[in-house]
Amino acid sequence: MSLEMEFSTTSKPIPASGISPESPQKYVEEISQLPKEKGWRGLQELFLYKNFWLYPVFLEGALHARDHFQAQPTDIFLCSSMKTGTTWLKALSFAIATRGHLPSDDGSDMTTVSLRTAVPHDCIPFLEFNEYSTAVTGSEIPLFASHLPYTCLPKSIIDSDCKIAYICRDPKDTFVSMWFFLRKFVAGKNSTDVESFSSIDEAFELFCKGLSSHGPYWKHILGYWEASKRRPEKILFLKYEDLVEDTQLWVKKLAEFFGCPFSAEEEREGVVERVVKECSFESLRNLEVNRSGKHEKRGRAIENSAYFRKGVVGDWRNHLTDEMGKKIDVIMEEKLMGSGFTF
Ligand code: A3P
Repeated sequence: MSLEMEFSTTSKPIPASGISPESPQKYVEEISQLPKEKGWRGLQELFLYKNFWLYPVFLEGALHARDHFQAQPTDIFLCSSMKTGTTWLKALSFAIATRGHLPSDDGSDMTTVSLRTAVPHDCIPFLEFNEYSTAVTGSEIPLFASHLPYTCLPKSIIDSDCKIAYICRDPKDTFVSMWFFLRKFVAGKNSTDVESFSSIDEAFELFCKGLSSHGPYWKHILGYWEASKRRPEKILFLKYEDLVEDTQLWVKKLAEFFGCPFSAEEEREGVVERVVKECSFESLRNLEVNRSGKHEKRGRAIENSAYFRKGVVGDWRNHLTDEMGKKIDVIMEEKLMGSGFTF
């Protein structure tokens, strides 16, 4: 693959092929012992692992990482629940880390891999898909991504005191984004399947009960929020809405957090603005790679365009009633009460 030829691999003390020496059967058996629920119609069952509902596709990789991933203290993790701005955070982080060769407006100084040639998910290795062993990355900072809840992360990440940047998003927009994404995913497998996919009302009720990918959503947030209060210098907590409101400010905070702050000269030369522009919803969505490309995760082809739907705050109003909005807000308020965190 051209990306592999262009970049050196990130070295990790696990087999280069990324295939466990142990049979995955071991994990299939472990998963089959866990409590399970039907979850959203048209999708696989959800399994309860350490108090979180996970699909087997993520769970198997989580168990593999638990047993094999050896974090280095310099590794930095971009963590999030699904549909909270992961793609954007990956793009911004990758652009910050590789800003020495950001393409100019006409693309003339573009070098090797860039956000213009690869979907952000292919720029940063994803822990649960075991990409840490084979991934190729142009980033000098060892960046990794994960959807795992804080308490489900491999122990070595916590023991190594690795830095973590976590992004969360208003639950109403997160839910709507998830419903559209998963419906598209189901439709992609077989167009007749989409008819058997949960209606938005049905999925909403399950989401409110905590039954969604990596749910309960509030618990996912709380885990990282509480950890960020204990270790603020190691865990940077972001909200999608804050990122929308002042992207430049957060890009600077991210760069400082990664240990590569923008110099006064870079700021004068407008590098921060270029990072923001390169990663804006419009810029990324309109790239050929994100309009018509696909990327493969665990043998499944996913259209890159699925990651760029609308990218606005408050789109839930177009799909949920006021009562539904109120219901999630009340649940979140109750669950987050006393934590000091609010949306
Ligand atoms: P919507 O479905 O509300 O449009 P994730 O990356 O975690 O899967 O989250 C996907 C959500 O982030 C989608 O929200 C998507 O449109 C939005 N998104 C993707 N890239 C973005 C960007 N560069 N800026 C703002 N939002 C972005």
